Amino acid sequence: MKKRWWNDKIAYQIYPKSFCDSNGDGIGDIPGIISKLDYLKDLGVDIIWLSPVYKSPFVDQGYDIADYYAIGEEFGTMEEFDLLLAETKKRGMYLIMDLVVNHCSDQHVWFQKALADPESEEAGYFWFVKGENGAPPSNIRSYFGGSAWEPVPGTDKFYLHMFAKEQPDLNWENPKLRQKIFDMVNWWLDKGLAGFRIDAIINIKKTSSFFSYPVDGPDGLSACAHMVDEAQGIGDLLQELKHETFEKYDAFTVGEVFNMKPQELEEFVGDEGHFSSMFDFAAHQLGESEKGWYDSKDVEFAAWRETVFAAQEKMHGIGLLSNIIENHDEPRGASHYLPLRAQNELGKKMLATTFMFLRGIPFIYQGQEIGMTNCRRNDISEYDDISTHDQYNLALRSGCTKEQALRCCYDYSRDNGRTPMHWTGGENAGFTTGKPWLALNPNYTEINAAEQENRPDSVLNYYRKLTALRKQEAYRETFTYGKFVPAFEKEEGIFAYIRENEESGQRILIAANFGTEIATLHLCGGREVLLSNCGKEAEYQADIKGGKLTLDSCESAVILLWA
Ligand code: GLC
Ligand code: CA
Repeated sequence: MKKRWWNDKIAYQIYPKSFCDSNGDGIGDIPGIISKLDYLKDLGVDIIWLSPVYKSPFVDQGYDIADYYAIGEEFGTMEEFDLLLAETKKRGMYLIMDLVVNHCSDQHVWFQKALADPESEEAGYFWFVKGENGAPPSNIRSYFGGSAWEPVPGTDKFYLHMFAKEQPDLNWENPKLRQKIFDMVNWWLDKGLAGFRIDAIINIKKTSSFFSYPVDGPDGLSACAHMVDEAQGIGDLLQELKHETFEKYDAFTVGEVFNMKPQELEEFVGDEGHFSSMFDFAAHQLGESEKGWYDSKDVEFAAWRETVFAAQEKMHGIGLLSNIIENHDEPRGASHYLPLRAQNELGKKMLATTFMFLRGIPFIYQGQEIGMTNCRRNDISEYDDISTHDQYNLALRSGCTKEQALRCCYDYSRDNGRTPMHWTGGENAGFTTGKPWLALNPNYTEINAAEQENRPDSVLNYYRKLTALRKQEAYRETFTYGKFVPAFEKEEGIFAYIRENEESGQRILIAANFGTEIATLHLCGGREVLLSNCGKEAEYQADIKGGKLTLDSCESAVILLWA
């Protein structure tokens, strides 16, 4: 595996709208981000990923871009963005942005021109397809519900949108469109951006015969993912994108890739792969149901462990995944992966331990480092997210009661990760002096950065220890390139693995007890306790001398083994 500048980095995702508001309009902004750069530096962050800050009507919270060359005025100005870039660099950090090019906003000038003249060049940037006797070309359902086709007014055509109808899909088969995208990507890289997180990218290649699939829901439609699953040749598009842009700048790219074909792993993230890395969503897809959130199952520990381990092992010798426990589309990791009894600081620190040392690039999502949780709402009207409304209605249509439908939003809503960041226990959690655009999670009075800042055993300070350990010169190679080796798999409730440096022979054990009972692990070769999530370094040190490690429920440890 080639050594690249990003391999040993720690990344942090900012959801700008909810991070820090500097001017009291209730919306997080770029000056707000600048004011928190030192906080991120202290946390050990190297790469900052900004979810979209482009001009957008916010139908899908900025993932509907109206101008790829403009900063949304809610977020600030281009001058402020340039300052953010400079300030990030000054601190030795890297900035990456979201690249959303499967679709744009219906407010984008391309789409406006296309609607005004369906024979224009711009119409060719989209999928304008003739319907059948007034009906859409096929029966596919968009990811956000409803038909993926919308009539083009004044014509017998329909345009394709795999997401909301305000997010028309771009036609990547058109070389003119591709060139426009390459120019735009290079424009940002020329500014000094370090790379991109690449949104929904697997969708750019679809079967363009647009036939119907077997109906799979009460709406008489069929999942649009079929069109992607059956498409051939995404690799050509992605290689061209890479050669025309990222490669020239040695840029870091991380793909949001779902439904990739397993044999394509090397093509995607091998040394010559399409991307530097891609997110590991395997665990997030556990328990998911094709029917919708209402039918999803809770994550079971054993299945979760098995899934994470399998994802880790299949990457051996290929490349690096990017690891997450949550993001702006997923529930909070602490609420999703920890059983109720472990949803406390000790449990959160244990989960963080297992996450931080996996092979790959750790992405911390804003608020994860202080242990933010899912947020309960009393009524569907309190949710903003477009897909939450769709899933709520779907649940009702499928026979759930209001309570049940709300319950699945509590478990899965994308708003769980989008509530404003908890900076303090004071008014509006210190996020804004105005009215927050999305109501806060009321538990900010207990869970907030200010309270944790100077408390040595806080989740925040533990995250700082984790990142520091991961980067410590003596172990950096092992944590970056070392092999992932499962450990104590027969022990129920134990999540343990060894990172093994095949060159130096260095071996480091990461072990956590997710079970309810005290566990004694027999350990030959324990040399030094590097970290405990509960201050028991000395106790464990005595323990490992005797050839064992005793972990109480929710305890975790990082242990250097003899080579
Ligand atoms: C990605 C984004 C999500 C967005 C979708 C459409 O999945 O993470 O937030 O809704 O793409 O752009
Ligand atoms: Ca603001």
